[in-house]
Amino acid sequence: MRRDDFELRPIMESDLEMVLSWRNSERVRSYMYTDHLISLQEHRAWFERVSKEAFPTVLIFEYMGRPVGLKSFTQIDTRNNRCHWGFYLGDTELPRGSGSVMGLMALEFIFEEHGFHKVCAEAFAFNEGSIKYHERLGFVKEGCFARHVLKNGIYQDIVLFGCFKDEWLAGKDRLEKRIFGQGDE
Ligand SMILES: CC(C)(COP(=O)(O)OP(=O)(O)OC[C@H]1O[C@@H](n2cnc3c(N)ncnc32)[C@H](O)[C@@H]1OP(=O)(O)O)[C@@H](O)C(=O)NCCC(=O)NCCS
Repeated sequence: MRRDDFELRPIMESDLEMVLSWRNSERVRSYMYTDHLISLQEHRAWFERVSKEAFPTVLIFEYMGRPVGLKSFTQIDTRNNRCHWGFYLGDTELPRGSGSVMGLMALEFIFEEHGFHKVCAEAFAFNEGSIKYHERLGFVKEGCFARHVLKNGIYQDIVLFGCFKDEWLAGKDRLEKRIFGQGDE
């Protein structure tokens, strides 16, 4: 795994149709709070809204110059220097660990480039992949909202995670070694 093969860049208007097809796929939709099929018009309205943020909050993750995933920062709270994040890989034909690279780059972006202090995350308790993913990246479980989100007629539990800038910086070297191997960094 080579770090140079990956990039995280702001979303552009020309990404919209591709992102919508990822977001509307069963694989992604089944893990999102809102899971109706999003129309292109609704999607464009979302893009107009997020484009007005003070810094790029929606980022496209690329592998070998090919867009393969999305990270977004939401609930930006500049008073307390914290935000939430959301994400998905749109492509499934990727080297193992690509999702972790996307997470690492996104945390570098929000903590090191933008100086945030805390990133919060929420996942369905049944989303074991996402729970393992957050733990792998150094997030700590902070709690649970019981029977909180209605999904396909069932009230589902939500797991809450937090990641702090100081803890991130302290653990980053180890994470990089785990993701890229000893020799790459
Ligand atoms: C959540 C998501 C981005 C995670 O992606 P991912 O592919 O699991 O993440 P990674 O690429 O980091 O890890 C994949 C596997 O490779 C392993 N791996 C990680 N780094 C590795 C490396 N350097 N070398 C080899 N394997 C590695 C991981 O341990 C993991 O194994 P596991 O599935 O047995 O746990 C992806 O599953 C997804 O898009 N899900 C749908 C949307 C979603 O749930 N979003 C989150 C809502 S809260």
